[in-house]
Order: sequence, then structure tokens, then C-alpha cells
Amino acid sequence: MKFFVDTANLDDIRELAATGLLDGVTTNPSLIKKAGGDFLETIAEICRIVDGPVSAETVATDHETMLAEGHKLAGIAENVTIKVPLTMDGLKTCKVLTGEGTKVNVTLCFSANQALLAAKAGASFISPFVGRHDDVSQDGMAMVEDIRTIYDNYDFETEILVASVRHPLHVLEAALMGADVVTVPPEVIRKLVNHPLTDKGLDAFLKDWADTGQSIL
Ligand code: E4P
Repeated sequence: MKFFVDTANLDDIRELAATGLLDGVTTNPSLIKKAGGDFLETIAEICRIVDGPVSAETVATDHETMLAEGHKLAGIAENVTIKVPLTMDGLKTCKVLTGEGTKVNVTLCFSANQALLAAKAGASFISPFVGRHDDVSQDGMAMVEDIRTIYDNYDFETEILVASVRHPLHVLEAALMGADVVTVPPEVIRKLVNHPLTDKGLDAFLKDWADTGQSIL
């Protein structure tokens, strides 16, 4: 399963890229607002840090303007993936951009039927929002399981990019279900690393090592 980080914060992206864990980055207008920088410059800088797909989201709601935005964003770097909303205009834009050889991430997906449409429109990625589904008492991961079944039934190549991830269990379930990608906020990636028994074990080893009076270097 590929790991993308869900942020526009350049410091977090630089830190995580250095671990070798990052396969890509997803951003959205809210994350751009939170990070505070110029949108186009931020995307350009992220593309310099990370080789994999970097999702940049369009903000127009009509096909023509959305397509023009997609063309402009795609011109920033070769690894830009254009994010379009799961609307009729978004699907139309997806089809055109995909036909031109640009990768498209169809976002704001809240049902397996919507995911089916995105695959038929040629999307490279579909982004089911699991956390926001859970927020309204629906089972976000059940939606991912349905999408996995549908895509496998018909050999769709669209990659399932699990989004709106809120905690490590979402990541575990995504991996068990065979999701292709998970996009994870930096704070959740750090939670994945930590385990109290790792800390406890390390403390004990270091204490015993100190008692030996030896040094490796
Ligand atoms: C996906 O690409 C979105 O940027 C993101 O995962 C949305 O997450 P949120 O529901 O925590 O805002």
C-alpha cells in the first residue's frame, strides 16, 4: 500500500520525505489555507521535494473553467495530479484530462456508486472520505470494501486512495482491505510509528547497555 501525506505544510512534507515513507502528497483548498502560502508556489515546491503524485485541487464548479484550471496546475510539474470533485462537471473534466495523459484524482467520494462512475471516467485515483463518513454515523471503511469489490469485479485500474483518515485503525483496515493508497495527516503518520512497548523495550536495552560500560564507536 502506498503512503501519501495529506497536508500542504512544507516542513512536515520535508521531514516525512526524508524517512523514505512518502509515495505522494494530497492537498485541498482547506489544507492550502491552513498552510498559508501561495497555492501555485506551494505545489511547485512540494513537487520538488516529492517524486510521486502530488494532488492539486481545482476550485471551479463548471467543466470549462475546471479544465482550464487543471491545465494550469498540470503545467507546474510532471508529477502534478489534478483533483476534481465528484460532480457531473468533475467527471467530464476527468475524462478529458485523462485522455490528454494527465493523472486525475476524483475527490469528495461518499458512495461506492460514485466510485464506479469515477473509474468509468478514467480516474487514476478515487478518494473515498472515510472519516467524514464516520462523522455522520456511516461506516467509511465499509464503503472502501465495496469499492474494492467493484473495482476487482471489473478489473478497473483506478487506484483506491483512502482519504479523510483520522486514526491508525483507518490505516490498518485500508491495508487489510487491499486499498492501493492511503493519504494520512502528518500527526497520524507519527502515531503509526509510536508504540509504548517499543519505548519501554528501548529504555531497558539502553539501561543494560550502559551497565556494560562499553561503547560501539
Ligand atoms: C483528501 O484528499 C482530503 O484532502 C482529505 O483527506 C480530507 O480529510 P478531512 O476529512 O480530514 O478534511
